[in-house]
Amino acid sequence: MQDWPTTIADEDSLEEVLSRPDPALVTDLAAVPGDILVLGAAGKMGPTLCRLAKRADPSRRVIAVARWSEEGLRARMKSWGIECLAADLTDRAALAALPDAPNVVFMAARKFGSTGNEALTWAMNVLLPAMVAERWAASRIVFFSTGNVLPLVPVGSGGATEDTPPSPIGDYAASCLGRERVFQHAAASRGTPCFGIRLNYAIDLRYGVLHDIACKVRDGVPVPVTMGHANVIWQGDANAWTLRALRHASTDCPILNVTGPETVSVRQVAGAFAQRLGRDAMFNGSEAPDALLSNAARAFALFGYPRVPLARMLDWVAGWVAQGGRSLGKATKFEVRDGRF
Ligand SMILES: NC(=O)c1ccc[n+]([C@@H]2O[C@H](COP(=O)([O-])OP(=O)(O)OC[C@H]3O[C@@H](n4cnc5c(N)ncnc54)[C@H](OP(=O)(O)O)[C@@H]3O)[C@@H](O)[C@H]2O)c1
Repeated sequence: MQDWPTTIADEDSLEEVLSRPDPALVTDLAAVPGDILVLGAAGKMGPTLCRLAKRADPSRRVIAVARWSEEGLRARMKSWGIECLAADLTDRAALAALPDAPNVVFMAARKFGSTGNEALTWAMNVLLPAMVAERWAASRIVFFSTGNVLPLVPVGSGGATEDTPPSPIGDYAASCLGRERVFQHAAASRGTPCFGIRLNYAIDLRYGVLHDIACKVRDGVPVPVTMGHANVIWQGDANAWTLRALRHASTDCPILNVTGPETVSVRQVAGAFAQRLGRDAMFNGSEAPDALLSNAARAFALFGYPRVPLARMLDWVAGWVAQGGRSLGKATKFEVRDGRF
């Protein structure tokens, strides 16, 4: 049983907790020797994914690639022992100049702003994966996808499984299905071992479904409940499974749903935050009979259950927003039902 803190006071503590390795990760990484190259490493998940890999195996070279749009991030990651390279991945010459590595994690993607600039979204989510799959054809590649490729399913269904036929709504989701197909094709046609992480929704304390709901409750803003249910997973668990998936990359290109075990009720969570924050929760709309839900039973069978349970996440997020902890200001828009992001 992990000895988690009851509260998380600041971002240093948060990033320490997010990057705590467990024995299963150490074991699985030992089965995939060699450098780990992380493409698109400067977003919400990449920095602590890199740090997690480094802490799991301090002797390992972990190389993070991004354009480094966020000031100070590169220096912070260097202080964690991570090599940081600057490149625009859409530039073929820059891609060619990046190092070879036996292990690649592909994280770059485009979601918000897709409506109105669909062409760029398809370029980022389909063209770029094709370039990456070609450039690192001899590597193991773990790539991110999203539960958005799946249809809305009845709330009582337990979530869409990997056997549910994809049915993306809108250009963002369709382009993400395109990314899955590109890597499946690379695995089948070139023999590149691949693995897809179909994620919804990772959370830390600065962003995510729980953060968004907690801020609304704290600020007296009505919580929209038409998309009345969701799945969440602690970002540290999602990142650990992503690194462990390197071991399971294969020419079959498995693509697994990755999220927590609960069908989380937005209304219930808002009520839990109201109680913790001493506020009244207000609501907008009423629950639809269906929602964007995925069933991660196969991932649990492969990796075990997430280490951080929902109740712990609720405590941490409530404490964070109550103390005015930093928000990334990046709303998840989990309430969107028409695929327009
Ligand atoms: N977080 C979630 O809950 C969630 C849910 C479903 C799927 N996913 C997927 O999981 C992956 C990781 O999530 P995330 O939340 O960390 O994503 P993110 O915040 O969008 O981070 C991706 C990072 O990639 C870098 N990047 C973008 N374009 C680039 C380019 N042309 N060249 C080099 N670097 C580039 C960016 O950093 P720079 O601007 O510094 O280059 C960006 O911060 C993404 O593919 C995302 O779509 C995440």
